[in-house]
Amino acid sequence: MATAAFCIKESNLQIYKLTNLQIYKLIDTHAHIDDEQYQASFADFIAEQQAAGVEAICVPGIDAANVQTVLEVCRRYPDYLYPAMGLHPENVRDDWREQLSTLHSLLSASTSSLSTKPIAIGEIGLDYYVDDTYKQEQLLAFREQLEWALEFDLPVMIHCRNAMDDCLPLLREFTRRGLRGVMHCFSGSRETAAELVKLGMYLGIGGVITFKNCRLKEHLSSVPMDRLLLETDSPYMAPVPFRGKRNESRWMSYVAETIAEAYGCSAQEVDEMTTNNAKHLFNLAK
Ligand code: NI
Repeated sequence: MATAAFCIKESNLQIYKLTNLQIYKLIDTHAHIDDEQYQASFADFIAEQQAAGVEAICVPGIDAANVQTVLEVCRRYPDYLYPAMGLHPENVRDDWREQLSTLHSLLSASTSSLSTKPIAIGEIGLDYYVDDTYKQEQLLAFREQLEWALEFDLPVMIHCRNAMDDCLPLLREFTRRGLRGVMHCFSGSRETAAELVKLGMYLGIGGVITFKNCRLKEHLSSVPMDRLLLETDSPYMAPVPFRGKRNESRWMSYVAETIAEAYGCSAQEVDEMTTNNAKHLFNLAK
């Protein structure tokens, strides 16, 4: 069983000891590090995250083809990279039924295999931001994948943009039936946060919280910290001071610092709490 300390390369560990930097213990619950931008120096990238105390990274899939790539990447680092499988709302097009059929077969096969078991259905949801041409199809695909979460007893990673009014009724319906999950990249209102918490959902908090003028810090005041998860949404959403760069899981320490300020606690407490939350929701064997 891998632990952060076990994974740290000896040389990297020495550098951290010498510079006396704190080694954080963090779990990135949403990172598209199967993205091409990471592949040229992937082993180095992973080693750097491990050296900085990133204990695990969850890698969501966005359609049937992408899920194959995600699985290949995760197979290279078992017990460190954890795949999720789903059809992202922006990828819901004319072929959505075929996509879902392929994904369901993959899911059925992989949940019975010993390695690269998916830890969640995701990322799935609703997105009317760019266009809502496929709104009805998005709703049908989302509902079907929420059913899978119950069928396979897996949590969901939800992407919701400009669609909370359609998302919440579905979550109310499915959480009554036992659905568990996270609202990824949460940046909504205080009221929405409270409603999601009432439904037992977790809120995934990423780099956005560090952005100037972001009011999320205030909106979190009514959210118990045992409902928070850290995430990057890599390669996007890098926190200040790396805004605009290709994101990295280790930079979640900046997100944790900002959350700590909002809650009036130490960053270490945020790290510990969110790491435990992630292990609990995704049933990570670490
Ligand atoms: Ni994503």
